Amino acid sequence: MQFFIDTANLDHIREAAELGILDGVTTNPSLMAKEGISGEQNILNHYKAICKIVGDDRDVSAEVISTEFDGMVKEGTKLAKLHDNIVVKVPMTKDGIKAISWFTNEGIKTNCTLVFSAGQAILAAKAGATYLSPFVGRVDDISWDGIGLIEEIAEIYETTGFETAILAASIRSPLHIVQAAKAGAHVCTCPLSAILGLLNHPLTDIGLAKFLEDHKKANG
Ligand code: E4P
Repeated sequence: MQFFIDTANLDHIREAAELGILDGVTTNPSLMAKEGISGEQNILNHYKAICKIVGDDRDVSAEVISTEFDGMVKEGTKLAKLHDNIVVKVPMTKDGIKAISWFTNEGIKTNCTLVFSAGQAILAAKAGATYLSPFVGRVDDISWDGIGLIEEIAEIYETTGFETAILAASIRSPLHIVQAAKAGAHVCTCPLSAILGLLNHPLTDIGLAKFLEDHKKANG
């Protein structure tokens, strides 16, 4: 399973990249706004800065703001020209599916976002989306089963042979990451806190303290 970081925060991206485990980045307009990035040129420059940090061959999702086909195509084409890493993130709407089909024909990678059902997952895969982003946490937020959705889509893609990668999004905890991996997600995009949370186990801390104590006793 690939690891993406779900943020527009450059320090967080740098920290995850330094661990050597980072395969890509996802952003969205809310995450860009959270970092105070506004205005077209600043947004484009920020995507370039992200691409520079992660290095080549690491996909970086950049989301279109347009809601109509023509605008999505214009905006996405401009984003894709920024850097080879850029994947155009397109919402799951009628115009979005039309735009994903268009980008697919042009050889431009896409990430279909705001996915909440298996039916939407089938449509996005038919349109040739490179990635599909089911929002695990937001499904859980309404008392449905976010990980169950990943399992359902994984089964459908396996049965049908669709090549779209399932990118588990809206991940809120280390447990979500483990569950998404078990459920068959090809990629998991997570905040830095959830990635770092995977490190923690009290027996690791206790064991390390004991090893160091024994070494000190024996070596002075
Ligand atoms: C990623 O592609 C999504 O935009 C993101 O994971 C949404 O996460 P949230 O539900 O925590 O806002």
